[in-house]
Amino acid sequence: MIQSEMRWHLNCRQDYLEAVWASIQDEKTRRIMEIGGTTSRSTSDRPLPSHITSFTISDISAEELDHVSDEFDTLQIDACGDIAHVTQTFDLIMSKFCGEHMPDGKQFHKNMHQLLNEGGVAIHLVPTLFASPFLINWMLPEGLTRKAVQLLQPQRFDKQNTGKFPAYYSLCRGSTRYMRNALADIGFSDVEVYEYYGHHYYDKLFGLRQLDNWLSRLCARRSWSFYSSYAIIVTRR
Ligand SMILES: C[S@@+](CC[C@H](N)C(=O)[O-])C[C@H]1O[C@@H](n2cnc3c(N)ncnc32)[C@H](O)[C@@H]1O
Repeated sequence: MIQSEMRWHLNCRQDYLEAVWASIQDEKTRRIMEIGGTTSRSTSDRPLPSHITSFTISDISAEELDHVSDEFDTLQIDACGDIAHVTQTFDLIMSKFCGEHMPDGKQFHKNMHQLLNEGGVAIHLVPTLFASPFLINWMLPEGLTRKAVQLLQPQRFDKQNTGKFPAYYSLCRGSTRYMRNALADIGFSDVEVYEYYGHHYYDKLFGLRQLDNWLSRLCARRSWSFYSSYAIIVTRR
């Protein structure tokens, strides 16, 4: 599914989009759902093939769902909470930079399993532990890390962008073996993780940027996924 050899962070968004798009083009995929795609959908404005019968945007926040145009169905759920009342199921579920906001990663993936049709696939792009910016974000209080991001990446707080939501990184890991073990009893027929290395967070921090870049490249060459920074997590029911 994912072809890039040196999994550098610059490729992860494109690889995620290609994986999502490959699944959308599969004629067996009819009903699709994106979690947290209220302001920027993974499929952008690309026209969908005619075999797609429904596209649902789901989010925990009613306010976020207000941004969604009428051409999409909406579903307000806590993707990590109780979804026993949800009757819809999907052939493809996708999420981009949402999985890290789930306080209980196991419950999140259990819910995804419940929402998938037999043979359906979920594709999630997440930042991963233990790349240092995410490790710091995980360990320090939210108020402090929010200020740091405002300083280092002010563009994230522009009107069109999403700002910063609290992140837990629960089961946001770049290792297939780790994730297969963690999700073993849920019942997925396959779990595959494609990890990426490096990030933009230290671009303005001379010295730290070079040091982290060196370490990330070393880990990328050796596939030391404990220091991965992003991952595409693919689970199949
Ligand atoms: C960082 S934004 C997603 C950004 C968007 N996918 C993108 O790539 O720009 C995270 C989204 O996840 C939603 N979210 C956070 N926790 C959630 C949960 N437990 N269940 C469902 N949605 C949640 C937030 O409301 C928000 O819309």
